[in-house]
Amino acid sequence: MSINVIVNGAFGKMGEATVAAVRQQEDMRIVATTGRNDDLAAKITHHTADVVVDMTHPDAVFNNCITILQKGAHAVVGTTGLTDANITALDTLAKKEKKSCINCPNFAIGAVLMMQFSKQAATYLSDAEIIEAHRKEKVDSPSGTALRTADLIAEGRSDALVQPSDVIPQEESQKARGYNYKGTPIHSVRLPGVIADQQVIFGELGGTLTLSHKTTSREAFMPGVILCIRQSMHRLGVVVGLEKVMGI
Ligand SMILES: NC(=O)c1ccc[n+]([C@@H]2O[C@H](COP(=O)([O-])OP(=O)(O)OC[C@H]3O[C@@H](n4cnc5c(N)ncnc54)[C@H](OP(=O)(O)O)[C@@H]3O)[C@@H](O)[C@H]2O)c1
Repeated sequence: MSINVIVNGAFGKMGEATVAAVRQQEDMRIVATTGRNDDLAAKITHHTADVVVDMTHPDAVFNNCITILQKGAHAVVGTTGLTDANITALDTLAKKEKKSCINCPNFAIGAVLMMQFSKQAATYLSDAEIIEAHRKEKVDSPSGTALRTADLIAEGRSDALVQPSDVIPQEESQKARGYNYKGTPIHSVRLPGVIADQQVIFGELGGTLTLSHKTTSREAFMPGVILCIRQSMHRLGVVVGLEKVMGI
């Protein structure tokens, strides 16, 4: 039996790539493509959608997830912008509705490995900074991937013997030291010609370790999206991060 999929935000860059990727799968089919002016709730009911993939806008993603879960579909969420409080509320709702809500700040398997390696490195090298680059029009900074990486670095540090140096000083002479998130400075670059790049630089006495991931095409995200669509049918509640879906 094939999985009925709706892509919300289907006319944007990630949405278009997702529709094309789903159409190549034998075990799933696109039953509707929706955008800003469509009635998502009505489409889910009308097409008996099993899964809705949300690739929209940070301002819309929380309400979209509520609609998806309340209408009886699983949610696979690529849109950034869900807060910790949003995640908690969605977890409660998803469990009540006996559905899943998989939220992945980054669907690229290489990027997920970079994040996991960052967590490992932070256990030994506590001082880290993140430089992330995306296209000029990206509406949020830092990126969801950078925030998630900093979360994982903070988790890695909790086991560290050596704690990082003090947080970023705020003096006038230190204006360009980045955004301090959980003790990791994040520097966001927004330029044409970039899709999604990130470097995580760890400092140690006498050297540095740099982990780097570069996305050259949105196809890089699609194996992760497809995996999440399949897995969403077997999960319950909120799952945050492709690494949890991959089981690493
Ligand atoms: N998880 C990942 O691996 C990953 C990778 C890349 C990007 N992203 C994230 O995915 C999201 C989409 O990125 P993108 O590059 O595809 O952006 P995009 O090209 O701007 O596409 C977003 C689409 O969503 C539509 N939209 C906006 N509000 C909506 C709503 N309330 N309901 C339905 N559709 C709505 C937009 O319509 P209008 O044009 O009319 O506004 C647009 O067609 C962003 O949050 C981005 O950060 C995630």
